[in-house]
Amino acid sequence: MKTKLFYVVMGLALGLNPLKAQQTPAYLDDTQPIEVRIKDALSRMTLEEKVKLCTAQSKFSSHGVPRLGIPEIWMSDGPHGVREEILWDSWGNAEWTNDSCTAFPALTCLAATWNPQMSAIYGKAVGEEARYRRKDILLGPGVNIYRTPLNGRNFEYMGEDPFLSSTMVVPYIKGVQSNGVATCVKHYALNNQEAWRGHIDVELSDRALNEIYLPAFKAAIVEGGSWSIMGSYNKVRGEHACHNDLLLNKILKGEWKFDGCVVTDWGGAHDTKEAALNGLDIEMGSYTNGLSSGKNFAYDNYYLASDYLKGIKDGTYPLSGLEDKATRILRLIFRTAMNSKRPWGSFTTEAHYDVARTVAEEGIVLLKNEAYKKKGTILPLDGNKYRTILVVGENATRRLTEGGGSSVLKVKKEVSPLTGLQTKFGDKIKYTLGYASGSAAYDSENEATYNTDSLHAEAVKQAADADLIVFVGGLNKNHFQDSEGADRKSMALPFGQSELINDLLKVNKNIVVVLLSGNAVEMPWVKNIPSILQAWYLGSESGNAIANVLTGEVNPSGKLPFSFPVKLADNAAHSFGTISYPGDSIKEIYKEDILVGYRWHDTKKIPALFPFGHGLSYTQFKYGKAATDKNNLSGAEEITVSVPVKNIGSVKGKEVIQLYVGEEKCSVLRPLKELKSFQKIELAPGEEQTVSFKIGVGALKFYSETAHDWVSEPGRFKLYIGSSSTDIRSTVSFILN
Ligand code: BGC
Repeated sequence: MKTKLFYVVMGLALGLNPLKAQQTPAYLDDTQPIEVRIKDALSRMTLEEKVKLCTAQSKFSSHGVPRLGIPEIWMSDGPHGVREEILWDSWGNAEWTNDSCTAFPALTCLAATWNPQMSAIYGKAVGEEARYRRKDILLGPGVNIYRTPLNGRNFEYMGEDPFLSSTMVVPYIKGVQSNGVATCVKHYALNNQEAWRGHIDVELSDRALNEIYLPAFKAAIVEGGSWSIMGSYNKVRGEHACHNDLLLNKILKGEWKFDGCVVTDWGGAHDTKEAALNGLDIEMGSYTNGLSSGKNFAYDNYYLASDYLKGIKDGTYPLSGLEDKATRILRLIFRTAMNSKRPWGSFTTEAHYDVARTVAEEGIVLLKNEAYKKKGTILPLDGNKYRTILVVGENATRRLTEGGGSSVLKVKKEVSPLTGLQTKFGDKIKYTLGYASGSAAYDSENEATYNTDSLHAEAVKQAADADLIVFVGGLNKNHFQDSEGADRKSMALPFGQSELINDLLKVNKNIVVVLLSGNAVEMPWVKNIPSILQAWYLGSESGNAIANVLTGEVNPSGKLPFSFPVKLADNAAHSFGTISYPGDSIKEIYKEDILVGYRWHDTKKIPALFPFGHGLSYTQFKYGKAATDKNNLSGAEEITVSVPVKNIGSVKGKEVIQLYVGEEKCSVLRPLKELKSFQKIELAPGEEQTVSFKIGVGALKFYSETAHDWVSEPGRFKLYIGSSSTDIRSTVSFILN
């Protein structure tokens, strides 16, 4: 007894409280509410430690608080899989051997499923891979709007429509974050092209900003609850987006009440004062321009490092600003790295390959499938009908998970389209390259340089003898294709593919074209090709998914998330000269305003080659007459519109029933119609289902430049129900009082 008392007294004399020592500090105790933990951690931190939180310590990690055991934040690209480890302070590959991931389909494909359930399983699976790889932030998903087919990064985004991308992004975020891994929605905002992305100053109306470019980000934050967001490289109304008062302070943190972290794009910070005051929290990649360059330097030189500390100490910047940044960063850490309840994740599992394949199969879009020579359609492909099937095209074998910039993936498995077809048809499959990317491409396996003319001639020769040709082409992930850092130079198919298709047609008309790309391409041969499939970039299970859809094992049900114009000049952004795209190198004005994508094609009566929402099936769906439960709508009421849909073909299939709304007369210009709801249903042959949608006044509003708010105007509204934005099967109208 005496000895125990002695130790307690001695302990107290030494400043240690043996009773208290047994108590876990609140910030380490995850039975405590996060806000209590943050407060406690902040109370223990020095000014220097708080500032340190705000900058990178390596290419993909930011500082923790080592003294308190608060861990660093580890990040990874995103968004289609978890990127390989790279070196501490250079873009070189770290040559780990445990980091080959599952590649999921590109986000354009996910959007093309028009199925939020696909986003949910995708998010959960890619989040599990990130968690297994001990990442705290997955850098994605991307929701920049598809404004021009030239944007090199469209494949990383979810298409041209704010409602579709908002609907699809939310379950992805929830899925990832259920693993205790934060999403980092990017690139906020208006990074709709790669040309001059580092400095182009985007000007647009408040209406276009609110109606077209912000909704998906808002949904990601307000409904999805993303724990972080990435600022974009470009300027918006004169300020860089990574420290932009309007975008970050007023809209994101003000109106949307975002409580997470704003992370710069890599090298997106440019100024200490703006970084300190305009809403930035974590600065990454300074002194590098994305992937293209980087140099060794001390992280202390970052805008939010020594200069910021000095400014806080001498009163230039308010302490409250730093407290806010540190609070947000700690909140992110407690939600992720210091959340002991988060699951452990898993990596390259069969379940993940199943998710990758299912999403791929559901996102592939059957663009065209016409009867050929009165013999019926080629697709679904019945192998018994053919002795030889000639596969032509580089994309049949090219690894398309490689390249593209920061979304590049090192994968454990990538089934090519050729392998997928060989698995189905064995020796019937013959293959010839037909074209090669670049004027003279090097074939490393055979140590030879291809002569593109002879590749072309050889394919035409073999085509004459083949029963069926499956042409697998499109774009790839090279610079000036679907790739970060530059835009495409034109909308044409590159590497002489269109010329090749035309020459193949001269000797054999039995051709299926499969396009792998994240963007619309010109199709000068479209009238002569009976069957065309848009197969995006599909990741690890690419070839299996394509073969399953070609053969009809899976009935295609994808719908285009963006319009395919006939030619570039038909696209809205390209209709107003270079100031509208790509800008004059300093400034760019979004002159098409709210008329983006189908809103432009519809309103200006410029038909698209393949319209937004288009996608065929191997079965047919008959729509009945749409009916509403009332003819007048007022106040907080909702109107219900219902339509019966029946599968009148002979195979099971899925259909996306799309609901567009248009106002007949309004004091401001409105698009002819806008997507406001959709549902994907599955029907067996002969089965009928009545699909109902509820529309409230919110869906009828436009953003008023004068009221600076969303407003509705009374009048007659038309509801268009269809199988695409132009294949409208039934309309019904009502009056808004
Ligand atoms: C890209 C981001 C990416 C980052 C880190 C940047 O070049 O724009 O999307 O997350 O690099 O790799």
